[in-house]
Amino acid sequence: MSMLTLGIEGTAHTLGVGIVDTDRKVIANVLDMYRPAEGGLHPREAANHHGDVVASLIVKATEEANVNLSEIELVSFSKGPGLGPCLRTAATAARALSCSLKVPIIGVNHCVAHVEIGRATTGCTDPALLYASGGNTQIIAFSNGKYRIFGETIDVGIGNMLDKLGRELGLGFYAGPTIEKLALEGDKLLNLPYSVKGMDVSFSGIMTAALALRKKGHRLEDIAYSVQETVFAMLAEVTERAMAHVGKDEVLLGGGVAQNTRLRTMIDEMAKERGARMFVPDRRLCMDNGAMIAWLGNIMYESGVRMDIADTAVEQRFRTDEVNVTWRD
Ligand code: ATP
Ligand code: FE2
Repeated sequence: MSMLTLGIEGTAHTLGVGIVDTDRKVIANVLDMYRPAEGGLHPREAANHHGDVVASLIVKATEEANVNLSEIELVSFSKGPGLGPCLRTAATAARALSCSLKVPIIGVNHCVAHVEIGRATTGCTDPALLYASGGNTQIIAFSNGKYRIFGETIDVGIGNMLDKLGRELGLGFYAGPTIEKLALEGDKLLNLPYSVKGMDVSFSGIMTAALALRKKGHRLEDIAYSVQETVFAMLAEVTERAMAHVGKDEVLLGGGVAQNTRLRTMIDEMAKERGARMFVPDRRLCMDNGAMIAWLGNIMYESGVRMDIADTAVEQRFRTDEVNVTWRD
């Protein structure tokens, strides 16, 4: 029987707590996102936010799951990759909980958690993951016993680029959804640099070029439309190449940007053209969340992984392919 597991996520903006029960069902998934009043994400301020909300979110998760804290049998947390102060705050909470409940602790890789919650809840079995969030943009697939990165951004994450662009254009923080809405009203495809280098992508030049278009007086709607068409086409291209390279006929979306309908449509069309299928987890499991951390901790523990408190130091640059995948053939 599987173990009642509580997972804590805190790699960046979001502090999330999730609980997975003994039938391996998600029975709680609560979160609180730090939203800076102005400017970008300050890691220290986000970490302060996480420290302020973590205890009450743990209580809220147990209420949602209708379990008693004393029934929790395993605690997991995101060990990395992410922002140091945020990671350490979540890890500290996890260690304190593990020690006080006298239950084992497992630190997990955040990117691998996005893959595993998708495999668990969408019905795909061996997908290539297009992981497009604020801080991350990677194409990940299982190959030779590891989750390997087949393509990634060489500068900023796609969501951070959209958020920064939105801020410069006066659209407020968390601009992805606003840009998506504006793009629906755009119809003119403006010229922006299409930056695919081998299997990797780059976004910073596109942002600079988009701001220059605004200075020239182009409509926000057309800029939003052109940015989306350009960056999503880049993602579709490298995802397709990765799928062909490793021979996967499933593509899974993960990360906050996977909420975008235009991105979904483009990836779905690409997949259908190659006789493949696209899968997208529920919104709350797609964005950063504690349930996926609980889930991965649970299956790692079941497969024999054990950690001491001494093994739970956070790793800001924890690479997907450093994880020994003991739970898959
Ligand atoms: P990570 O630590 O995984 O990088 P994160 O803190 O950036 O995560 P997520 O919740 O995965 O968190 O993603 C947030 C990002 O998703 C933001 O940059 C936001 O603008 C973007 N986003 C959300 N909805 C949309 C949308 N509809 N279209 C485009 N981008 C979106
Ligand atoms: Fe994430």
